[in-house]
Amino acid sequence: MDKSGESAAGPEPTASHLVTITFRIRRFNPEVAADAEWEDFTLDIDPKDRVLDALHRIKWELDGTLTFRRSCAHGICGSDAMRINGRNRLACKTLIKDITGIKDGKGTKPVLVEAIKGLTVLKDLVVDMEPFFQAYRDVMPFLVTSGNEPTRERLQSDADRARFDDTTKCILCAACTSSCPVFWNDGQYFGPAAIVNAHRFIFDSRDEAGEQRLEILNDKDGVWRCRTTFNCTDACPRGIEVTKAIQEVKRALITRRF
Ligand code: SF4
Ligand code: FES
Repeated sequence: MDKSGESAAGPEPTASHLVTITFRIRRFNPEVAADAEWEDFTLDIDPKDRVLDALHRIKWELDGTLTFRRSCAHGICGSDAMRINGRNRLACKTLIKDITGIKDGKGTKPVLVEAIKGLTVLKDLVVDMEPFFQAYRDVMPFLVTSGNEPTRERLQSDADRARFDDTTKCILCAACTSSCPVFWNDGQYFGPAAIVNAHRFIFDSRDEAGEQRLEILNDKDGVWRCRTTFNCTDACPRGIEVTKAIQEVKRALITRRF
C-alpha cells in the first residue's frame, strides 16, 4: 500500500464498505460424524468480494479445517463449482452482492453454500469427481485422424470451425452434470458435460471418430436419458448452450448427418 492508502489492487476497503454476512456451509467430515450438518460463519466483508474470498477468509481466519477446491480463482480451471443458494455456480465468479439482499449493513439472509449434488461428498465442499471424469474419458475427448499427417496444422474453414465453437469453451467444472435430475437419480447417465465434449469432436470436420462417439452415446445411459430440463444450460458458467448441444447429438444419431 502507498501513502495515499491505495494498494496495487486499488483502494483498500474501509469499514464503511463492509457488511455483515452469515455464510451457512454444509459441513461433512466422515472421520467425525456420519451425517453432514450446516454451520454458520459470520464475516464483515465487502459485498463486491466473491464467495471464494469469503471461503478463504473463513478457512484462514476462522476454521482451517474447511475444505474446498479452487485453483485459478478466475473462472478458468473449473475446480470451485458448488451450490450457492441452491444453484450451481463457480465461487470465484459469484459476487456476494449478487446473491444476497443487504439492509442496514447486514445480509438479509444467510448465504447457503454446499457441495454439488449427485457425486459423493468426500469432505465439506469436495466431491469425488472420478465418475464425472470417467464419463468424459469414455466419449474419447480427443481428435482422431488416420494417415494424412499434415506438415503444418490441419486446416479448417471458418464455417466448419464455427460448427463446434460453443462446446470448445467447456472447463469441466461439472456444474451442468451435477444440476441434472437424471444424473441425481442415476449416476450411470453420461451427463451433460460428457455429451458437450463429445459434441466438440463429433462436429469437428477434421475428426474421423464421430460414428464411434455417437454409438457410445446411443447407449441406454447415453444421450436419450436427457429430459430437456435445461438445468444444465442455466448452470453453465461459460454460457454454453448445453441443452442445444445435446439436442444436436440426438439429431445426428437419428439422421447420421454431422
Ligand atoms: S458444459 Fe459448462 S457447466 Fe458443464 S462442465 Fe462444461 S463449463 Fe461446466
Ligand atoms: S477457481 Fe478456477 S474456476 Fe474458480
